[in-house]
Amino acid sequence: MRMFDIIAKKRDKEELTGEEIAFWIQGCLNGQVADYQTTALLMAIRINGFSERETIALTEEMRRSGKTLDLSEIDGVKADKHSSGGVGDKTSLAALPIVAAAGVKVAKLSGRGLGHTGGTVDKLESIPGFHVNLDSQTFMRQVAETGMAISGQSADLDPADKKLYALRDVTATVDSIPLIAASIMSKKLATGADVLALDVKYGSGALLQDIEDSRRLAKLMIRLAKAAGKKASALLTSMEQPLGLSIGNALEVEEAVQVLQGEGPEDLRQLSLRLAGEILWLAGARSDRRQAWALAGDLLDSGAALEKFKALILAQGGCVDWQRMAKSPLILPYPAPAEGYVAAMDTAKIGYASLLLGAGRAKAEDTVDHAAGIVLCQKRGAYVHAGDTLAYLHCREERQAAEAAKLLQEAVTFSQTAPETGPLIAEIISTEDDCTD
Ligand code: URA
Repeated sequence: MRMFDIIAKKRDKEELTGEEIAFWIQGCLNGQVADYQTTALLMAIRINGFSERETIALTEEMRRSGKTLDLSEIDGVKADKHSSGGVGDKTSLAALPIVAAAGVKVAKLSGRGLGHTGGTVDKLESIPGFHVNLDSQTFMRQVAETGMAISGQSADLDPADKKLYALRDVTATVDSIPLIAASIMSKKLATGADVLALDVKYGSGALLQDIEDSRRLAKLMIRLAKAAGKKASALLTSMEQPLGLSIGNALEVEEAVQVLQGEGPEDLRQLSLRLAGEILWLAGARSDRRQAWALAGDLLDSGAALEKFKALILAQGGCVDWQRMAKSPLILPYPAPAEGYVAAMDTAKIGYASLLLGAGRAKAEDTVDHAAGIVLCQKRGAYVHAGDTLAYLHCREERQAAEAAKLLQEAVTFSQTAPETGPLIAEIISTEDDCTD
Protein backbone atom coordinates (compact mmCIF):
# COMPACT_ATOMS: atom_id res chain seq x y z
CA MET A 1 0.00 0.00 0.00
CA ARG A 2 1.24 3.53 -0.76
CA MET A 3 0.12 6.76 0.87
CA PHE A 4 0.35 8.43 -2.56
CA ASP A 5 -2.47 6.19 -3.85
CA ILE A 6 -4.63 6.83 -0.76
CA ILE A 7 -4.33 10.60 -1.23
CA ALA A 8 -5.09 10.26 -4.97
CA LYS A 9 -8.16 8.18 -4.19
CA LYS A 10 -9.63 10.79 -1.88
CA ARG A 11 -8.63 13.57 -4.31
CA ASP A 12 -10.78 11.70 -6.86
CA LYS A 13 -13.70 11.45 -4.39
CA GLU A 14 -13.43 7.70 -3.88
CA GLU A 15 -14.20 5.96 -0.60
CA LEU A 16 -11.20 4.70 1.41
CA THR A 17 -11.21 1.21 2.90
CA GLY A 18 -10.69 0.46 6.58
CA GLU A 19 -7.25 -0.99 5.72
CA GLU A 20 -6.24 2.22 3.96
CA ILE A 21 -7.36 4.35 6.91
CA ALA A 22 -5.46 2.07 9.32
CA PHE A 23 -2.35 2.30 7.11
CA TRP A 24 -2.61 6.12 7.14
CA ILE A 25 -3.10 6.53 10.90
CA GLN A 26 -0.46 3.99 11.89
CA GLY A 27 2.02 5.44 9.39
CA CYS A 28 1.25 8.97 10.55
CA LEU A 29 2.20 7.98 14.11
CA ASN A 30 5.24 5.80 13.33
CA GLY A 31 6.75 8.24 10.85
CA GLN A 32 6.25 6.14 7.70
CA VAL A 33 3.70 8.66 6.44
CA ALA A 34 5.05 12.21 6.20
CA ASP A 35 3.12 15.09 7.79
CA TYR A 36 2.80 16.74 4.35
CA GLN A 37 1.03 13.59 3.10
CA THR A 38 -1.33 13.60 6.08
CA THR A 39 -2.17 17.27 5.55
CA ALA A 40 -2.83 16.65 1.85
CA LEU A 41 -5.26 13.87 2.78
CA LEU A 42 -6.90 16.01 5.49
CA MET A 43 -7.52 18.75 2.94
CA ALA A 44 -8.93 16.25 0.43
CA ILE A 45 -11.28 14.98 3.18
CA ARG A 46 -12.24 18.55 4.11
CA ILE A 47 -13.11 19.32 0.47
CA ASN A 48 -14.47 16.00 -0.83
CA GLY A 49 -16.03 14.63 2.37
CA PHE A 50 -15.77 11.37 4.23
CA SER A 51 -18.53 8.74 4.29
CA GLU A 52 -20.03 7.44 7.51
CA ARG A 53 -18.24 4.13 6.95
CA GLU A 54 -14.91 5.94 6.58
CA THR A 55 -15.62 8.05 9.68
CA ILE A 56 -16.42 4.95 11.76
CA ALA A 57 -13.14 3.35 10.63
CA LEU A 58 -11.14 6.51 11.38
CA THR A 59 -12.74 6.88 14.82
CA GLU A 60 -11.89 3.28 15.70
CA GLU A 61 -8.31 3.56 14.45
CA MET A 62 -7.80 6.79 16.42
CA ARG A 63 -9.42 5.32 19.55
CA ARG A 64 -6.98 2.45 19.61
CA SER A 65 -3.94 4.51 18.66
CA GLY A 66 -3.01 4.86 22.34
CA LYS A 67 -3.92 3.80 25.82
CA THR A 68 -7.60 3.14 26.51
CA LEU A 69 -9.35 2.88 29.86
CA ASP A 70 -11.19 -0.30 30.78
CA LEU A 71 -13.92 0.76 33.16
CA SER A 72 -15.64 -2.63 33.03
CA GLU A 73 -14.14 -3.73 36.34
CA ILE A 74 -15.98 -0.89 38.09
CA ASP A 75 -19.51 -1.87 39.12
CA GLY A 76 -22.50 -0.13 37.62
CA VAL A 77 -23.09 2.12 34.66
CA LYS A 78 -20.33 4.60 33.84
CA ALA A 79 -21.17 7.95 32.25
CA ASP A 80 -19.31 10.74 30.50
CA LYS A 81 -20.18 14.10 28.95
CA HIS A 82 -18.65 16.27 26.26
CA SER A 83 -19.27 19.82 25.09
CA SER A 84 -18.20 20.99 21.65
CA GLY A 85 -16.97 24.14 23.39
CA GLY A 86 -18.44 27.42 24.45
CA VAL A 87 -18.26 30.54 26.55
CA GLY A 88 -19.41 30.34 30.17
CA ASP A 89 -20.18 26.65 29.76
CA LYS A 90 -19.73 25.17 33.22
CA THR A 91 -22.39 22.47 32.89
CA SER A 92 -19.94 19.62 33.60
CA LEU A 93 -19.51 21.06 37.10
CA ALA A 94 -23.25 21.33 37.72
CA ALA A 95 -24.65 18.37 35.76
CA LEU A 96 -22.21 15.57 36.55
CA PRO A 97 -22.58 15.71 40.37
CA ILE A 98 -26.34 15.26 39.80
CA VAL A 99 -25.60 12.10 37.80
CA ALA A 100 -23.19 10.76 40.45
CA ALA A 101 -25.70 11.56 43.21
CA ALA A 102 -28.06 9.06 41.52
CA GLY A 103 -25.41 6.33 41.78
CA VAL A 104 -24.40 6.46 38.12
CA LYS A 105 -20.59 6.59 38.06
CA VAL A 106 -18.97 9.53 36.32
CA ALA A 107 -15.61 9.03 34.57
CA LYS A 108 -14.64 12.18 32.74
CA LEU A 109 -11.41 13.25 31.08
CA SER A 110 -11.42 16.93 30.21
CA GLY A 111 -9.37 19.47 28.34
CA ARG A 112 -8.09 22.99 28.90
CA GLY A 113 -9.48 26.15 27.38
CA LEU A 114 -8.08 27.53 24.14
CA GLY A 115 -8.98 30.68 22.22
CA HIS A 116 -12.41 31.98 23.14
CA THR A 117 -13.61 28.73 24.72
CA GLY A 118 -13.07 27.58 28.29
CA GLY A 119 -12.03 24.13 29.54
CA THR A 120 -13.18 22.14 32.57
CA VAL A 121 -9.61 21.38 33.70
CA ASP A 122 -8.82 25.11 34.06
CA LYS A 123 -12.06 25.71 35.96
CA LEU A 124 -11.32 22.89 38.41
CA GLU A 125 -7.74 24.04 38.80
CA SER A 126 -9.05 27.36 40.12
CA ILE A 127 -10.20 25.47 43.25
CA PRO A 128 -7.31 25.73 45.74
CA GLY A 129 -5.47 22.40 46.02
CA PHE A 130 -7.46 20.57 43.31
CA HIS A 131 -5.34 17.99 41.42
CA VAL A 132 -6.34 17.68 37.77
CA ASN A 133 -3.79 15.09 36.70
CA LEU A 134 -4.82 11.71 38.06
CA ASP A 135 -2.97 8.62 36.86
CA SER A 136 -5.28 5.98 35.44
CA GLN A 137 -5.21 3.80 38.59
CA THR A 138 -6.14 6.69 40.89
CA PHE A 139 -8.78 7.82 38.40
CA MET A 140 -10.42 4.37 38.30
CA ARG A 141 -10.22 3.94 42.09
CA GLN A 142 -11.89 7.30 42.61
CA VAL A 143 -14.67 6.51 40.11
CA ALA A 144 -15.32 3.26 42.02
CA GLU A 145 -15.12 4.76 45.53
CA THR A 146 -16.37 8.36 45.22
CA GLY A 147 -18.59 7.66 42.22
CA MET A 148 -17.02 10.47 40.26
CA ALA A 149 -13.63 11.62 38.93
CA ILE A 150 -12.65 14.39 36.51
CA SER A 151 -9.08 14.47 35.28
CA GLY A 152 -6.99 16.03 32.55
CA GLN A 153 -6.42 13.78 29.57
CA SER A 154 -3.21 11.76 29.77
CA ALA A 155 -0.70 12.27 26.95
CA ASP A 156 -0.94 8.64 25.85
CA LEU A 157 -4.71 8.67 25.25
CA ASP A 158 -5.56 8.97 21.53
CA PRO A 159 -2.15 10.22 20.26
CA ALA A 160 -3.56 10.11 16.71
CA ASP A 161 -5.99 12.87 17.63
CA LYS A 162 -3.22 15.03 19.09
CA LYS A 163 -1.19 14.64 15.91
CA LEU A 164 -4.09 15.16 13.50
CA TYR A 165 -5.54 18.09 15.45
CA ALA A 166 -2.18 19.91 15.51
CA LEU A 167 -1.94 19.49 11.71
CA ARG A 168 -5.60 20.47 11.14
CA ASP A 169 -5.16 23.57 13.28
CA VAL A 170 -2.50 25.03 10.96
CA THR A 171 -3.93 23.86 7.62
CA ALA A 172 -7.51 25.23 7.81
CA THR A 173 -9.02 21.75 8.13
CA VAL A 174 -10.50 21.94 11.63
CA ASP A 175 -14.01 22.68 10.39
CA SER A 176 -14.66 19.33 8.71
CA ILE A 177 -17.69 17.66 10.32
CA PRO A 178 -16.43 14.05 9.93
CA LEU A 179 -12.98 15.02 11.24
CA ILE A 180 -14.49 16.81 14.25
CA ALA A 181 -16.80 13.85 14.94
CA ALA A 182 -13.94 11.33 14.75
CA SER A 183 -11.73 13.54 16.93
CA ILE A 184 -14.31 13.94 19.70
CA MET A 185 -15.72 10.41 19.61
CA SER A 186 -12.36 8.62 19.45
CA LYS A 187 -11.36 10.32 22.73
CA LYS A 188 -14.72 9.61 24.35
CA LEU A 189 -14.70 5.96 23.27
CA ALA A 190 -11.10 5.58 24.53
CA THR A 191 -12.31 6.65 27.99
CA GLY A 192 -14.68 3.69 27.99
CA ALA A 193 -17.92 5.02 29.51
CA ASP A 194 -21.18 3.17 28.74
CA VAL A 195 -23.36 6.24 28.29
CA LEU A 196 -22.55 9.67 26.98
CA ALA A 197 -24.17 13.11 26.83
CA LEU A 198 -22.93 15.39 24.06
CA ASP A 199 -23.61 19.11 24.20
CA VAL A 200 -23.28 20.34 20.62
CA LYS A 201 -23.29 24.11 20.44
CA TYR A 202 -24.41 26.34 17.61
CA GLY A 203 -24.39 30.14 17.27
CA SER A 204 -21.84 32.93 17.50
CA GLY A 205 -19.69 31.27 20.19
CA ALA A 206 -19.70 27.76 18.75
CA LEU A 207 -17.17 25.80 16.75
CA LEU A 208 -19.82 25.40 14.04
CA GLN A 209 -22.02 28.48 14.05
CA ASP A 210 -24.72 27.25 11.70
CA ILE A 211 -27.37 25.15 13.43
CA GLU A 212 -27.67 22.79 10.43
CA ASP A 213 -23.93 22.03 10.55
CA SER A 214 -24.16 21.46 14.30
CA ARG A 215 -27.15 19.16 13.79
CA ARG A 216 -25.17 17.16 11.20
CA LEU A 217 -22.26 16.89 13.65
CA ALA A 218 -24.57 15.82 16.49
CA LYS A 219 -26.27 13.16 14.37
CA LEU A 220 -22.98 11.81 13.09
CA MET A 221 -21.52 11.57 16.61
CA ILE A 222 -24.65 9.79 17.82
CA ARG A 223 -24.36 7.29 14.96
CA LEU A 224 -20.67 6.76 15.82
CA ALA A 225 -21.70 6.07 19.44
CA LYS A 226 -24.33 3.61 18.23
CA ALA A 227 -21.83 1.86 15.95
CA ALA A 228 -19.57 1.44 19.00
CA GLY A 229 -22.42 -0.06 21.04
CA LYS A 230 -22.82 2.95 23.36
CA LYS A 231 -25.93 4.82 24.45
CA ALA A 232 -25.68 8.54 23.86
CA SER A 233 -27.78 11.69 23.56
CA ALA A 234 -26.72 14.91 21.89
CA LEU A 235 -28.32 18.18 22.93
CA LEU A 236 -28.20 20.88 20.28
CA THR A 237 -27.82 24.05 22.35
CA SER A 238 -27.50 27.77 21.74
CA MET A 239 -24.23 29.68 22.03
CA GLU A 240 -25.90 32.87 20.71
CA GLN A 241 -24.92 34.28 24.10
CA PRO A 242 -22.72 33.00 26.92
CA LEU A 243 -24.24 30.37 29.17
CA GLY A 244 -25.09 31.76 32.59
CA LEU A 245 -23.59 35.10 33.61
CA SER A 246 -20.00 34.26 34.57
CA ILE A 247 -17.07 33.69 32.22
CA GLY A 248 -13.68 32.83 33.71
CA ASN A 249 -12.48 29.94 35.78
CA ALA A 250 -13.06 30.67 39.48
CA LEU A 251 -16.10 32.78 38.59
CA GLU A 252 -17.60 29.82 36.73
CA VAL A 253 -16.97 27.40 39.60
CA GLU A 254 -18.79 29.82 41.90
CA GLU A 255 -21.72 30.00 39.50
CA ALA A 256 -21.90 26.20 39.18
CA VAL A 257 -21.97 25.99 42.99
CA GLN A 258 -24.84 28.48 43.01
CA VAL A 259 -26.79 26.16 40.71
CA LEU A 260 -26.00 23.20 42.95
CA GLN A 261 -27.29 25.30 45.87
CA GLY A 262 -30.59 25.77 44.03
CA GLU A 263 -29.78 29.30 42.85
CA GLY A 264 -27.85 30.66 39.87
CA PRO A 265 -28.94 31.62 36.36
CA GLU A 266 -31.94 29.81 34.93
CA ASP A 267 -30.34 28.86 31.58
CA LEU A 268 -27.42 27.16 33.31
CA ARG A 269 -29.75 25.32 35.69
CA GLN A 270 -32.01 24.22 32.82
CA LEU A 271 -29.21 22.88 30.63
CA SER A 272 -27.40 21.17 33.52
CA LEU A 273 -30.63 19.43 34.55
CA ARG A 274 -31.40 18.29 31.03
CA LEU A 275 -27.89 16.92 30.43
CA ALA A 276 -28.00 15.09 33.76
CA GLY A 277 -31.56 13.88 33.10
CA GLU A 278 -30.63 12.45 29.71
CA ILE A 279 -27.67 10.58 31.21
CA LEU A 280 -29.89 9.20 34.00
CA TRP A 281 -32.40 8.00 31.40
CA LEU A 282 -29.72 6.39 29.21
CA ALA A 283 -28.19 4.77 32.30
CA GLY A 284 -31.57 3.25 33.22
CA ALA A 285 -31.98 5.15 36.53
CA ARG A 286 -35.59 5.61 35.36
CA SER A 287 -37.13 3.85 32.37
CA ASP A 288 -39.29 6.84 31.54
CA ARG A 289 -37.39 9.79 30.09
CA ARG A 290 -39.43 12.49 31.86
CA GLN A 291 -39.12 10.69 35.17
CA ALA A 292 -35.35 10.63 34.68
CA TRP A 293 -35.40 14.38 34.03
CA ALA A 294 -37.50 14.84 37.19
CA LEU A 295 -35.05 12.70 39.18
CA ALA A 296 -32.27 15.10 38.15
CA GLY A 297 -34.33 17.99 39.58
CA ASP A 298 -34.94 16.12 42.85
CA LEU A 299 -31.23 15.38 43.31
CA LEU A 300 -30.39 19.03 42.72
CA ASP A 301 -33.11 20.38 45.02
CA SER A 302 -32.30 17.96 47.84
CA GLY A 303 -28.66 19.12 48.00
CA ALA A 304 -27.42 15.61 47.16
CA ALA A 305 -25.67 16.87 44.02
CA LEU A 306 -23.88 19.64 45.94
CA GLU A 307 -22.64 17.04 48.45
CA LYS A 308 -21.35 14.93 45.54
CA PHE A 309 -19.50 17.91 44.07
CA LYS A 310 -17.85 18.53 47.45
CA ALA A 311 -16.90 14.83 47.66
CA LEU A 312 -15.27 15.08 44.21
CA ILE A 313 -13.29 18.16 45.25
CA LEU A 314 -12.13 16.62 48.53
CA ALA A 315 -11.15 13.36 46.78
CA GLN A 316 -8.95 15.37 44.39
CA GLY A 317 -7.29 17.39 47.16
CA GLY A 318 -9.32 20.58 46.74
CA CYS A 319 -10.83 22.96 49.25
CA VAL A 320 -14.61 23.37 49.59
CA ASP A 321 -14.44 26.72 51.38
CA TRP A 322 -15.67 28.88 48.49
CA GLN A 323 -14.38 32.03 50.27
CA ARG A 324 -10.88 30.82 49.42
CA MET A 325 -11.45 30.93 45.65
CA ALA A 326 -9.08 33.36 43.90
CA LYS A 327 -10.37 36.93 43.60
CA SER A 328 -9.20 39.65 41.20
CA PRO A 329 -7.73 42.84 42.65
CA LEU A 330 -9.77 44.92 40.18
CA ILE A 331 -13.50 44.58 39.52
CA LEU A 332 -14.53 47.30 37.10
CA PRO A 333 -18.01 48.05 35.72
CA TYR A 334 -18.51 48.05 31.95
CA PRO A 335 -21.30 50.54 31.17
CA ALA A 336 -23.81 50.12 28.35
CA PRO A 337 -22.73 52.49 25.54
CA ALA A 338 -26.30 52.96 24.27
CA GLU A 339 -29.95 52.69 25.26
CA GLY A 340 -32.10 49.89 23.91
CA TYR A 341 -32.62 46.16 23.95
CA VAL A 342 -29.52 43.98 24.10
CA ALA A 343 -30.14 42.63 20.61
CA ALA A 344 -27.20 40.37 19.81
CA MET A 345 -24.06 39.12 21.42
CA ASP A 346 -21.03 37.95 19.50
CA THR A 347 -20.24 35.21 22.00
CA ALA A 348 -16.79 34.41 20.61
CA LYS A 349 -15.79 38.08 21.00
CA ILE A 350 -17.02 38.03 24.61
CA GLY A 351 -14.86 34.91 25.11
CA TYR A 352 -11.87 36.77 23.65
CA ALA A 353 -12.60 39.75 25.92
CA SER A 354 -12.38 37.37 28.87
CA LEU A 355 -9.09 36.03 27.45
CA LEU A 356 -7.73 39.61 27.34
CA LEU A 357 -8.58 39.95 31.02
CA GLY A 358 -6.32 36.93 31.65
CA ALA A 359 -8.93 34.16 31.93
CA GLY A 360 -7.99 32.30 28.73
CA ARG A 361 -5.12 31.35 26.50
CA ALA A 362 -4.29 32.35 22.95
CA LYS A 363 -1.73 29.51 22.66
CA ALA A 364 -1.72 26.13 24.39
CA GLU A 365 1.40 27.02 26.41
CA ASP A 366 -0.02 30.27 27.89
CA THR A 367 -0.94 30.39 31.57
CA VAL A 368 -4.30 31.63 32.85
CA ASP A 369 -5.28 33.93 35.70
CA HIS A 370 -7.85 31.79 37.50
CA ALA A 371 -9.56 34.76 39.14
CA ALA A 372 -10.03 36.82 35.96
CA GLY A 373 -13.12 37.05 33.77
CA ILE A 374 -16.44 38.72 33.11
CA VAL A 375 -19.69 38.69 35.04
CA LEU A 376 -22.55 39.79 32.82
CA CYS A 377 -25.38 41.78 34.38
CA GLN A 378 -27.65 41.61 31.33
CA LYS A 379 -28.29 39.14 28.53
CA ARG A 380 -30.09 39.23 25.19
CA GLY A 381 -33.56 40.76 25.34
CA ALA A 382 -32.89 43.00 28.39
CA TYR A 383 -33.69 46.72 28.05
CA VAL A 384 -30.87 48.96 29.26
CA HIS A 385 -30.17 52.70 29.50
CA ALA A 386 -26.84 54.19 28.43
CA GLY A 387 -24.49 53.98 31.42
CA ASP A 388 -26.24 51.01 33.08
CA THR A 389 -23.70 48.38 34.08
CA LEU A 390 -23.70 45.64 31.43
CA ALA A 391 -20.93 43.59 33.03
CA TYR A 392 -18.16 43.58 35.63
CA LEU A 393 -14.62 42.97 34.43
CA HIS A 394 -12.37 41.04 36.85
CA CYS A 395 -8.67 41.55 36.16
CA ARG A 396 -5.26 42.63 37.50
CA GLU A 397 -4.58 45.76 35.46
CA GLU A 398 -6.72 48.61 34.12
CA ARG A 399 -5.03 48.16 30.73
CA GLN A 400 -6.59 44.69 30.46
CA ALA A 401 -10.05 46.10 31.24
CA ALA A 402 -9.65 48.83 28.60
CA GLU A 403 -8.72 46.25 25.93
CA ALA A 404 -11.58 43.95 26.92
CA ALA A 405 -14.04 46.87 26.93
CA LYS A 406 -13.12 47.68 23.31
CA LEU A 407 -13.99 44.15 22.28
CA LEU A 408 -17.20 44.14 24.31
CA GLN A 409 -18.27 47.30 22.52
CA GLU A 410 -18.04 45.40 19.23
CA ALA A 411 -19.58 42.25 20.69
CA VAL A 412 -22.85 43.62 22.07
CA THR A 413 -25.34 45.38 19.81
CA PHE A 414 -28.55 47.20 20.71
CA SER A 415 -31.94 47.66 19.02
CA GLN A 416 -35.13 49.59 19.64
CA THR A 417 -37.30 46.50 19.30
CA ALA A 418 -37.04 43.38 21.43
CA PRO A 419 -34.96 40.70 19.67
CA GLU A 420 -36.28 37.21 19.08
CA THR A 421 -34.46 34.74 21.26
CA GLY A 422 -34.56 31.08 20.27
CA PRO A 423 -34.71 28.14 22.65
CA LEU A 424 -31.66 27.21 24.72
CA ILE A 425 -32.08 23.55 23.79
CA ALA A 426 -33.10 23.31 20.14
CA GLU A 427 -33.23 19.51 19.88
CA ILE A 428 -32.20 16.24 21.50
CA ILE A 429 -30.86 13.49 19.24
CA SER A 430 -30.35 10.09 20.86
CA THR A 431 -29.17 6.60 20.01
CA GLU A 432 -32.45 5.54 21.64
CA ASP A 433 -34.57 7.55 19.17
CA ASP A 434 -34.42 7.62 15.40
CA CYS A 435 -30.99 9.12 14.66
CA THR A 436 -30.83 8.43 10.93
CA ASP A 437 -30.36 11.35 8.55
N1 URA B 1 -12.91 19.48 19.63
C1 URA B 1 -12.23 18.32 19.45
O1 URA B 1 -11.95 17.59 20.39
N2 URA B 1 -11.86 18.02 18.19
C2 URA B 1 -12.16 18.79 17.13
O2 URA B 1 -11.79 18.43 16.02
C3 URA B 1 -12.85 19.98 17.34
C4 URA B 1 -13.23 20.30 18.62
